[in-house]
Amino acid sequence: MSKQAVLELDGKKFELPVIEGTEGELAIDIRELRAKTGYITLDNGYMNTGSCESKITFLDGENGILRYRGYPIEQLAEKSTFMETSYLLTFGELPTKQQLENFKGDISSYSSIPHGVKKILDQFPTTAHPMGVVASATASLSGFNPEFLNMPLPPETRIKAIAQVISQIKIIAAYFYRRTVHKDFIESKPELGWSGDFLNMMFGGDGYKVDPEIAKALDTLLILHADHEQNCSTSAVRLVGSSQANIFAVIVGGIDALWGQLHGGANQAVLEMLELIKKDGGDYKKFLAKAKDKNDPFKLMGFGHRVYKNFDPRATIIKKACDTILAKLGVVDPLLDIARGLEEAALSDDYFKERNLYPNVDFYSGIIYRALGIPTNMFTVMFVLGRIPGWLSQWKEMREDPAQKIARPRQIYTGANARDYVSIDKR
Ligand code: CMC
Repeated sequence: MSKQAVLELDGKKFELPVIEGTEGELAIDIRELRAKTGYITLDNGYMNTGSCESKITFLDGENGILRYRGYPIEQLAEKSTFMETSYLLTFGELPTKQQLENFKGDISSYSSIPHGVKKILDQFPTTAHPMGVVASATASLSGFNPEFLNMPLPPETRIKAIAQVISQIKIIAAYFYRRTVHKDFIESKPELGWSGDFLNMMFGGDGYKVDPEIAKALDTLLILHADHEQNCSTSAVRLVGSSQANIFAVIVGGIDALWGQLHGGANQAVLEMLELIKKDGGDYKKFLAKAKDKNDPFKLMGFGHRVYKNFDPRATIIKKACDTILAKLGVVDPLLDIARGLEEAALSDDYFKERNLYPNVDFYSGIIYRALGIPTNMFTVMFVLGRIPGWLSQWKEMREDPAQKIARPRQIYTGANARDYVSIDKR
């Protein structure tokens, strides 16, 4: 017999089914709670709330485990490519050679952006934050693709839309970057591979040649960011998508949620923090004390995670990649020494130990992006580029679920009780 939870309320007992995931995760199914009891649950920040069942990503925060479709992140980071991992996330299995070629072919068929989108990008001041620019330009794609707006999309059109989003947001990001450095746009060359093409669009010309090792390193970073189950931006994607909004609107929801510094925006915030410490004389212990002081809003950016409570497996891989890339590029970055010192001091500090605060994926990624020549305000865009296949596969999974309902949480109202309107001259 399947397991049940028993809830006792107002002297009555209610049985609630228990659901078990394939990795033994347990949930109390409260879908009928309100209908049966009149009660709802209240869970600020969704600390204990599962919003869906999903076959895409498994994450065990206590043990530092992350797997896409069952494959450990460590193996994918070492052996896969960003395109192959994107296919895996989207379709659920590793592709054959032919399937991968077809997928890349679909993506390459969108290797330019509409002239109208370029004109929109040209209107932004070069000082505009690239996250806002990328979100706006992504939203504008809906204006150029009316065929993708009639929801629900048939499966073949859905795949085309996915391929377009994967390709064109990369081009939008590179196009705007070239504008900010007053250089001509370089057309996409998909034959260079996803990361090689991006690096070439960003830094090409003047005899630039893509270094395959650097392209591989970027690919690895993107794989590490590709999905992370129901985090803030992915939940935004599912929430917006649940209303049957179009794919561009859905992805903009994800981009905007990612921008915040508690989420993807942390990679920019980490670098700004390290720069601040350097400018202040390099005394990271002073900043550690600030982070512990409850009267000080300062937090150690790149530290802590809602679900990882021992270590972030992505951070372990990134830290190693950081050493390799800096050595390869011959970059000596004083910020890296500050980061190492800060990490070491925090890891042996009781405040951080008691609260299980460890470096997360964003702690070292910024140092790598900086070494690659990517400007600080574009770091979160790099996170977007990595996370797109995850958002798309979560959206696809949701759209393929016939039982999917519009997301509509409830609330506990704590405002004024009913009262009569008072005209302005009597207040
Ligand atoms: N520096 C100092 N104290 C911290 C930090 C930090 N970075 N993170 C958490 N704490 C403290 C927090 O003040 C609280 O202390 P107390 O119990 O005394 O009130 C305790 O640790 C628990 O923290 P919380 O804020 O309740 O935990 P949360 O799960 O709600 O938040 C977090 C998780 C990631 C938002 C938070 O750790 C944080 O703000 N970190 C810095 C921002 C950051 O690096 N974000 C990137 C996350 S990884 C990329 C991604 O996937 O989004």
